Amino acid sequence: SISTNQLFTDCVIVGAGLAGLRAAIEAADHRNVVVVCKGTMEDSNTWKAQGGVASVLGKDDTFESHIADTFKTGGGICDEQIVKLVVRQGPELIHQLQEWGTAFDLVDGQVDITLEGGHSRARIVHAHGDETGRAIAETLIERVRSTPNIKVIENFYTVDVLTDEKQRCVGIIGYDRQHGLQILWAANTILASGGGGQLYRETTNPSGATADGIAMAYRAGAVLRDMEFVQFHPTTLYIAGASRALITETLRGEGAILLDVNGHRFMTEYDEAGELAPRDVVSRAILDQMRKTESTHVFLDVRHLNKEYFARRFPMISDLCESFDIDVSHDLIPVRPSAHYMIGGVLTDALGRTSIENLYACGEVASTGLHGANRLGSNSLLEGLVFGTIAGREVVQKARADVTTSLKHPLIKYQIPHSNRSQLDVPDVRNSLRALMWRNVGITRTAQPLTEAEEIIRFWHRYVMDKVFDSPEGWECQNMLTASLLVTCAAQLRKESRGVHYRVDHPETDDAHFRKHIEIVKAN
Ligand code: SIN
Repeated sequence: SISTNQLFTDCVIVGAGLAGLRAAIEAADHRNVVVVCKGTMEDSNTWKAQGGVASVLGKDDTFESHIADTFKTGGGICDEQIVKLVVRQGPELIHQLQEWGTAFDLVDGQVDITLEGGHSRARIVHAHGDETGRAIAETLIERVRSTPNIKVIENFYTVDVLTDEKQRCVGIIGYDRQHGLQILWAANTILASGGGGQLYRETTNPSGATADGIAMAYRAGAVLRDMEFVQFHPTTLYIAGASRALITETLRGEGAILLDVNGHRFMTEYDEAGELAPRDVVSRAILDQMRKTESTHVFLDVRHLNKEYFARRFPMISDLCESFDIDVSHDLIPVRPSAHYMIGGVLTDALGRTSIENLYACGEVASTGLHGANRLGSNSLLEGLVFGTIAGREVVQKARADVTTSLKHPLIKYQIPHSNRSQLDVPDVRNSLRALMWRNVGITRTAQPLTEAEEIIRFWHRYVMDKVFDSPEGWECQNMLTASLLVTCAAQLRKESRGVHYRVDHPETDDAHFRKHIEIVKAN
């Protein structure tokens, strides 16, 4: 056995995307904060976000309209209180980001806003064209780095959330290559670890999106909710070697159209909103059209858009296409859907609290109730911004009320067992799992393939969970298996179609039995 390093702090935050960084800034107002992330601060999904942040900033827009659109897309199970709260706080927090230095794109001195599917008004703000996430992340990173009571530890892999005998969260245990295992004792812990696009073979997410926070919270006994609702993005670049890069929906918001391999514009046959129908509708239509035309992809067509404007408005996509020899003024862009966003996650209330005392969650890892069964484009950065702020603030408020903290822990030893070491080909398990999830628990679902997936994942789960790993690769694989099992079981239980969850064998929405959430908690 070896001694572990220990660190004591008021608040530890797992994850350095928008939600985690925003929470850190808020909490650091009065507390000492440690932010840990498993890669660098540039490796987040936030950094990759293109479209923007949805908020009521247009002259003819109203909170009521944004609230109504969120509800309409959410398939009848959005939490009304949360939707109102998030929508109403948007403009103020976006202005604050501007004050802190995010250069949102402007026209005539006003914030430029654009359209995405499901929004009845233009309300997506963006920065550096399609580099919105990066622009916001850079602002927050700079602010975090210049705040004295925030310490950032990069390349730190969080293994587990720690709870005491009363099931209160007391911090985390994690690992870095230099120091090995370390314990961070904290009065409050905020999970902001993002989602799990990597559970699927095809995804827009970076390689670190392995649902670690979901699995950790589950192991700690937190209530999870809505795990069956996985959102697929309709348009991901489909070129070998392009690692399935996202092609932002705002491209369609600004006039791009979808063509099948025969050059036929098909979206209007599926939905009257055409290319701007909600994402689940567009994703399923693309799949259907791929099946009808026996092809692996469809195309985005932007040939009719002004070439200079396109390069200026979408610099990231322009560069990406150019690097694969696609001249967007002449060539079509091959795309297909891929896994994009986990709507479900760790259940939280309006203060960002989970069901475990002293454990908070915000951003993609959380299930706040904003999205219901289907997330409206660009509502996720908004949610991260609002709930990052709320969770950070709550930690400060709560600490003021706390007379004692629970940081009186003896030095502990952490046993690293040396037996039963893994002979496992971890990358093979990971790849097989991603292929299985894509095939059996993907955009459309049916009872038999779901049952088969559950059996296979349970089988892999049994022997992979038995192995002892001492590096992130193995722990990530365990987390992916746990999270995949939760998604698969929830998808089996919901025997209806609602939002992003489409059951071929139950194509109708069944309000009588299923206008409710599915909550999962680990059996004791
Ligand atoms: C996009 O730019 O299409 C993605 C925006 C989002 O997922 O909200």
